[in-house]
Amino acid sequence: MKLGIVDMEMATAHHSVSLSALAHATNVDPNKYRFGLRQENFSMPALDEDAVTLGATAASRVLARTGKTAIRTLIFATESSVDQSKSAGVFAADLLDLSVNTRIVETKQACYAGTAALQMALGIVARNPQEQVLVIASDIARYAVNTAGEPTQGAGAVAMVVGADPQLLEIEPQTGVWSAHIDDFWRPNDLSTPLVDGARSLDAYLGAFTGAWEDYLAHGGAGLDEIDYFVHHQPFTKMAVKGHRRLVEHTGKLIDEQTVEPGLRYTTQFGNSYTASLYLGLLSLLHSDADLDGKRIGLYSYGSGATGEFFTGVVQPGYRRVIDSHYADAAINEREELSFEEYRALHAAHERGSKHDYQNPRVTRAPFRFVGVRDGARSYQRNTLPTDSGVISTINKS
Ligand code: COA
Repeated sequence: MKLGIVDMEMATAHHSVSLSALAHATNVDPNKYRFGLRQENFSMPALDEDAVTLGATAASRVLARTGKTAIRTLIFATESSVDQSKSAGVFAADLLDLSVNTRIVETKQACYAGTAALQMALGIVARNPQEQVLVIASDIARYAVNTAGEPTQGAGAVAMVVGADPQLLEIEPQTGVWSAHIDDFWRPNDLSTPLVDGARSLDAYLGAFTGAWEDYLAHGGAGLDEIDYFVHHQPFTKMAVKGHRRLVEHTGKLIDEQTVEPGLRYTTQFGNSYTASLYLGLLSLLHSDADLDGKRIGLYSYGSGATGEFFTGVVQPGYRRVIDSHYADAAINEREELSFEEYRALHAAHERGSKHDYQNPRVTRAPFRFVGVRDGARSYQRNTLPTDSGVISTINKS
């Protein structure tokens, strides 16, 4: 029985910030961002967006195609958690009107958590092939201003329906994993932006890559020349290229970099999306001109702290009938661009706690919005009503 991704969709935030504007305003050579990081823009949420609204938006798009009757589990992967106790998935399930007979949980291990969610989902559907699992990976990469991480911000979400007889991508069972305790990137509970040792995070990413690759081979994985395309985790676009070069160096084989390029387009535009980043890369490849029928894709997932996993998927013949690049194309062209001053003001405005009530201005055009906080409880609404009187969800009070 084949197991894998039946269908998948994406969402990103309302605003974009141009890295050349950031470079000019902060006296950095724009070529550092354009060629050194290979980033053009990053997405930035409006005040009425968060990881829940982005994730629910991506999920509503995929569920509109697959339906939701077979979904009995929702796994929400994020490191932009909105609550220390309650899963972001509970808020999303309410917005998506999922059945009350749904198991809901949140996963966390930095950017790796989306892959953890996918592997858990595969385990659930292996046991109950008539069920499907909704996996949502959604994040807002927000770094402190005037730090090396500032140009690697971004936002995005990917939702995947995981099940038997997938029409899109069969995930093969062989997988290689590698973990070690490394302080390369982390976010203590009382901080809204992460602490980062940039150089160490690059080393950790690369070390976990070769470690996971060796483990993959030891567990019966395919040879390098049996893999047609590669998608590697993309905290910034150039990192995936660096990772690929390390794999080439490590194996001593020659692999054309064109096997990596089609998976890089979206991160260049949306920036880092942590848990969603690998899967936005996968969508970028699936939406590209490459003919992928029957092709094997190697996927490298990395989460700081650190865990790496290398695994493969085989694109199912006829996959083009399933995928739809409409939302990604619209996101690239229709985000509202911020000036440098607007961006910095919005960055500061996102710094909010739960001790005081607030109502967010209505900005996003996405299907769901984050209304605000009242008595410590977050509320969300569908974005179809003309006024805030239509709050449908004050579900944090139970
Ligand atoms: N023109 C072209 N390229 C330039 C340049 C210029 N004027 N100036 C610098 N560069 C290149 C550098 O050579 C380097 O490329 P290389 O790594 O291929 O040699 C790249 O731009 C970055 O320069 P660097 O000096 O290393 O940047 P930095 O100290 O600002 O830090 C990160 C870069 C990625 C470490 C930093 O953005 C960061 O900490 N990001 C968050 C953490 C992260 O994403 N980690 C990834 C693993 S999870």
